Amino acid sequence: MKDLLRLRTSLSEEIETLLNEQIKVEAHSSSVYLAMSSWCNRHGFDYSAGYFQKQSGEEREHMLKLFNFVNDLGGRAISPEVTNIPQDFESFRSVFEQALQQEIYVTQQFNRIADRCMKARDYVTFQFLQWFLKEQVEEEYVARRALELFDVIGEEGTGRYEIDKHVPKIKYDNE
Ligand code: FEO
Repeated sequence: MKDLLRLRTSLSEEIETLLNEQIKVEAHSSSVYLAMSSWCNRHGFDYSAGYFQKQSGEEREHMLKLFNFVNDLGGRAISPEVTNIPQDFESFRSVFEQALQQEIYVTQQFNRIADRCMKARDYVTFQFLQWFLKEQVEEEYVARRALELFDVIGEEGTGRYEIDKHVPKIKYDNE
C-alpha cells in the first residue's frame, strides 16, 4: 500500500519529510513572532508589536506555500504541532537578536533541503525552493537592520522609543 501511494507522487519520502519538517519550522516561526508581538505590546513598543504581527502572518503564508506544494504533488502535508514557544524575553534588544537568529536558522534549513534536492535530482522541488531562498535574503536583511538600530540610535533616554518607531520603516530595495 505504501509503495502504491508512492507511485502517486514524484516526491521521494526523504524530500517529503524534509518539507514537512520545514512546514513545522515556519509554523513555529509564526508563533514565535506572535509571542514577540505580544511582548512588545505589553512593554509599550507598539510599532514593533505591529511589525512582528506582520512577520507572523508572513511565516504562516510560507508554511501554507510549502503545505500546498506537498499536497499538490500528491504528497501528504502534515498540519504541524507547535510547542515550546517562548512568551518572555530578556529585553527589547534580545527580541531582535532572537528574530535574527531565527531567520539565519531558517536560511540554513532551506540550504539543507536544496542540497538534498540536488543530490536526489528532485529539480521540481529545487526550483520551488528558489522563491524561499530569495525571500530569506530579504528576511535576514530586515532582521539584521532592525538589530543594528540598537547600536545606531542607542538605547539611552528615549532611544528605545526611537528604535521602535524606525523598525517598521526598514525596507529591502534590492529587487
Ligand atoms: Fe519563513 Fe522568515 O522564514
